[in-house]
Amino acid sequence: MYGFDQLRAAEITDIGIVLGPLHEGIKDALGDGSKFHVNITYIDQPDPKGIAHAVLISKDFLENQPFIVYLGDNLLKESIPELAEEFTASKPDAMVVLVRVKEPGRFGVVKIEDGKITKLVEKPKQFVSDYALAGVYFFQPSIFPVIQTLKPSWRNELEITEAIQGLLQRGGRITFHEVSGWWKDTGRPEDILEANQLVLRDLKSSIKGKLDEGVLVSGSVEIGEGTHVHRGATIRGPAVIGENSEIGPGAYVGPYTSIGSNVKILGTEIENSIVLDGSVIDCRDRVVDSIIGRNSQIRSNGTQRPSGRRFVVGESTYVSL
Ligand code: G1P
Repeated sequence: MYGFDQLRAAEITDIGIVLGPLHEGIKDALGDGSKFHVNITYIDQPDPKGIAHAVLISKDFLENQPFIVYLGDNLLKESIPELAEEFTASKPDAMVVLVRVKEPGRFGVVKIEDGKITKLVEKPKQFVSDYALAGVYFFQPSIFPVIQTLKPSWRNELEITEAIQGLLQRGGRITFHEVSGWWKDTGRPEDILEANQLVLRDLKSSIKGKLDEGVLVSGSVEIGEGTHVHRGATIRGPAVIGENSEIGPGAYVGPYTSIGSNVKILGTEIENSIVLDGSVIDCRDRVVDSIIGRNSQIRSNGTQRPSGRRFVVGESTYVSL
């Protein structure tokens, strides 16, 4: 998990994960965190009332210590250890991470005047600034009394942006850091594919599985333990294949593809796609730009199809072609 790696590098290993009502599979996938070398505590938020509410219900877990909030659907290539160091050294009340965006109305934005934050607005209807809040925030416990004064916003959420604005109005010191690498809010399927590409760009090769003779591997490729790549298959990186998966004879796994564990790719060509654990793809069509949820099956029914179909398939779905 990319986010965990970043947090661990900053020596942040006690991680609270706030789970909303739609959390199927998350506990199964992450467990107690030991496989990522972190300790995970789950904090239930059955009624999702916003990010500031998520922070509020984590108060006991946070034990009156400074903390970082990392939104689960955000990914950024920024050194979290360096940010944490900056925060610890300068001890502001809050430190936010900013990124310039083309559609500021989709985010929380921050107005900066003379190098200082003067205003924060969540999803502004009128232009305020093109500096958006990337989903990484550093706080002192001084944020809690401000959150306690918040009223639900138009979308019925306690907005973290409004909490920081409240902190500012009470004379709190808010510092910022502009993202220099990439940043992705993975709210939409196309964003998830793009985030996958960005992460795979830095992949280092590591082959633990079994490759038959005559398998063609090029570029950076990671293949997990127990995975078997059959004769005549081609893997062109950057690509990741998890554990105990099978890449059938003649199959092609193309660049920017992430395949989970216990997956079977049989006779298929797949590129720029994500296939989650337990899925089977056994079809003659070329699968591109697709996200296949856990335990899904895509099989040919023998009818001719145009190549390059696109899929966004939910968990435990069966698609017959
Ligand atoms: C949330 C925050 C917003 C921030 C964004 C980053 O938005 O409210 O301020 O810019 O995350 O991804 P949401 O995803 O709830 O629309």
